[in-house]
Amino acid sequence: MGTPPTARKVCVVTGSSSGIGAATARLYASHGWDVAVNYSRDPAPADEVAGQCRALGAEVLVVKADVSSDADCRRLAAEVQARWGRADVLVNNAGTTRFVPLKNLDALEADDFQRIYAVNVVGAYQMTRAFVPLLERHPVTAVVNVSSIASFMGTGSSIAYMASKGALNAMTIGLARALGPKIRVNAIAPGLVDSPWLKNGLGEVAYAAAVESYKQRAALEEVIQPEDVAQAAWWLGVGAAKTTGEVLLIDGGLRLTRA
Ligand SMILES: NC(=O)c1ccc[n+]([C@@H]2O[C@H](COP(=O)([O-])OP(=O)(O)OC[C@H]3O[C@@H](n4cnc5c(N)ncnc54)[C@H](OP(=O)(O)O)[C@@H]3O)[C@@H](O)[C@H]2O)c1
Repeated sequence: MGTPPTARKVCVVTGSSSGIGAATARLYASHGWDVAVNYSRDPAPADEVAGQCRALGAEVLVVKADVSSDADCRRLAAEVQARWGRADVLVNNAGTTRFVPLKNLDALEADDFQRIYAVNVVGAYQMTRAFVPLLERHPVTAVVNVSSIASFMGTGSSIAYMASKGALNAMTIGLARALGPKIRVNAIAPGLVDSPWLKNGLGEVAYAAAVESYKQRAALEEVIQPEDVAQAAWWLGVGAAKTTGEVLLIDGGLRLTRA
């Protein structure tokens, strides 16, 4: 822990080369924070997001790291420590899935569960563990996990995916107990988000149908934008002083309507 902490606050967002993570990195940058942008495969979109954050005034660290690898998580924490000597908010947003129709039980294998859990559950755990020494150096710090409405509704890309997000919700509560009073730990459960995730997974035609169906069922008649989730990640990270162990649904009122 050699580098003394910089004056500006630091947010680390996993999976921030796209979608929700990118919007979250940009939002923290727009509030005068420095940000670590993370991805595991393609550097080009991460560099683009980094450029957007720099244009908003942030200092940016771009780190390739697969959150399912504990060594990568520890290296990411070491790079943040060496650059800034601090981390104030960690957003565990990186996620993965496999699209398998719910009724086709034979199409989903044990390997799918293990690969999805390795990123969505174990990855968030490993990242949190790697960052605790940095987070607990300051009085007001937080972890925000990005879960999914799939964990409540039994919907989404596959049973392995919704189960992993249910595990992430439970882990959020456990980590909130473990890391209080120094570090708050909360989760966000978004509904259908207008990001590359579902477009890539479903294809354009099925995606458009899913959006229309969602709008018809949700009380607010809208799908969720990455910026809507980023706002929740900002509030849970920086506001929400008395909130820990909570899972906040951002679903446009899907759960309220037309069962
Ligand atoms: N889209 C939705 O409708 C929706 C709804 C509810 C919850 N969510 C959750 O929201 C989160 C973000 O989703 P999104 O819609 O923004 O998806 P997205 O646009 O596809 O972005 C996913 C991001 O995660 C990164 N990533 C994937 N695997 C990673 C790994 N092992 N280590 C580090 N980074 C990794 C990707 O970069 P690389 O490909 O380069 O690794 C990318 O930056 C996920 O946890 C997802 O489960 C999404």
